[in-house]
Amino acid sequence: MTSSRKGTVYIETYGCQMNASDSELMLGKLRADGYESVTTPDRADVILLNTCAIRDHAEQRVLGRLGELKASMSATSIMGVTGCMAQRLGPKLLARARHVSLVIGPDGYRALPALVERARAGEKATHTTFDFEEHYEDVAPVRADRVKAWIPVQRGCDYKCTYCIVPTTRGPERSRRLDDVVREVAGVAASGTTEVVLLGQTVNSYRDGGHDFADLLRAVGAVDGIRRLRFTSPHPNDFSDRVIAAMADVPAVCEHVHLPMQSGSSRVLKRMLRRYTREDYMACVERLRSRISGLSITTDIIVGFPGEDDQDFEDTLSAVREVGFDDAFTFRFSAREGTPATRLPVELTVPEEIATARLERLIATVRSGARERNATLLGRRCEVLVEKWARRGELLQCRTRDFRTVLIPGADSLVGRYLTVELTGTTGSTFTGTIVTERTPLPMAVRSIGDAAPAA
Ligand code: SAH
Ligand code: SF4
Ligand code: F3S
Repeated sequence: MTSSRKGTVYIETYGCQMNASDSELMLGKLRADGYESVTTPDRADVILLNTCAIRDHAEQRVLGRLGELKASMSATSIMGVTGCMAQRLGPKLLARARHVSLVIGPDGYRALPALVERARAGEKATHTTFDFEEHYEDVAPVRADRVKAWIPVQRGCDYKCTYCIVPTTRGPERSRRLDDVVREVAGVAASGTTEVVLLGQTVNSYRDGGHDFADLLRAVGAVDGIRRLRFTSPHPNDFSDRVIAAMADVPAVCEHVHLPMQSGSSRVLKRMLRRYTREDYMACVERLRSRISGLSITTDIIVGFPGEDDQDFEDTLSAVREVGFDDAFTFRFSAREGTPATRLPVELTVPEEIATARLERLIATVRSGARERNATLLGRRCEVLVEKWARRGELLQCRTRDFRTVLIPGADSLVGRYLTVELTGTTGSTFTGTIVTERTPLPMAVRSIGDAAPAA
């Protein structure tokens, strides 16, 4: 028995930050309806998998997990699939896994309590229609993290890159109203959270009537108590001068951009319909770096896209060296049913072993560049925000403004605090550090950029 009116819910989340944010909304919706959230699936009344469809591997993992979780079900519990895979497969999922009785796409969470009720009454319930107005404005999310808050500002995507399933699973692009975003940010700031991350598939194409992303950055950056402002993921074509100026002007905007490149070959970029060339991408990097000093840049890269030859791949490696990415998420192309890339001539397919070998070389290139850059930072002092306990060991995980991870010894009471640390060691990708000064969060007005600490 539980103290909740309706029962318990367990949600497991896959995929991007947008999905993580949606899970917080789903939990908010169910909690308002009388459910209590639990952190293990065992005998939860409602088990939900909020899924990702971006690559075949992501879907296979979910299918495997659905099988595993069957063992956690009781005679009365129900299993549901939500998110992008639910949207893509719809009712087909019910046939694929017979213990699943609920399938809900990203625009259907408003109906979650009613659909859960139907499933618990023994029905099969699905909801996979798009709602072009849906932003869940009146749903209070239950946030997993008190240190930083995900703030969705845009749903869907209008770009239609030829490899990508997202326009199919999340529908067309729509932006939230600026006032609504600012109200949500003010709410999280009032609860003591000092960092926000604005989310959208091409977040810098945000537009609400007369307001663009530059206006949004300025408005969010002006909210009392917000000390760090990040956003993900921007599209290179949407970095207008106005947006870059806002990034440079607003003190809370951190010196880090995640700027998906996908390929360093203009030929491949054209086939991907990314709508920029290698030169355009480099020019974007240059414009950002010329206005924001100390900017770190991370990226996403796909290898083995149909038609990618050895020279195209060498172009990707040279682009990685030229930009000097601080980190990269690297992927082997995965053909997604229904996307334009699946209609390219079959002879353009890159054999799996070639794609795998390219991925390995790419990872090695990214790592060696990052290692070299990180070695030069040893001995530096920088401001970090303490996020949480690191996955293993007794160290706290902290972030610099430019998104480097620093592990420090410390106590629970430091979580959520800003400290100045000295970088004392590096694995090549992450750092270890020691505390130089401890400071409590300061109001925005006194925050300074690049904030090297005064000597202790
Ligand atoms: N909207 C974001 C990316 C969302 S998907 C953007 O445009 O930047 C995250 C990353 O997954 C993409 O940047 C891309 O690198 C990768 N990805 C998307 N579809 C893929 C596919 N079919 N195969 C392999 N990687 C893919
Ligand atoms: Fe997919 Fe391209 Fe849209 Fe990103 S911009 S979500 S990669 S279609
Ligand atoms: Fe995956 Fe959907 Fe995000 S496909 S990457 S969870 S938008």
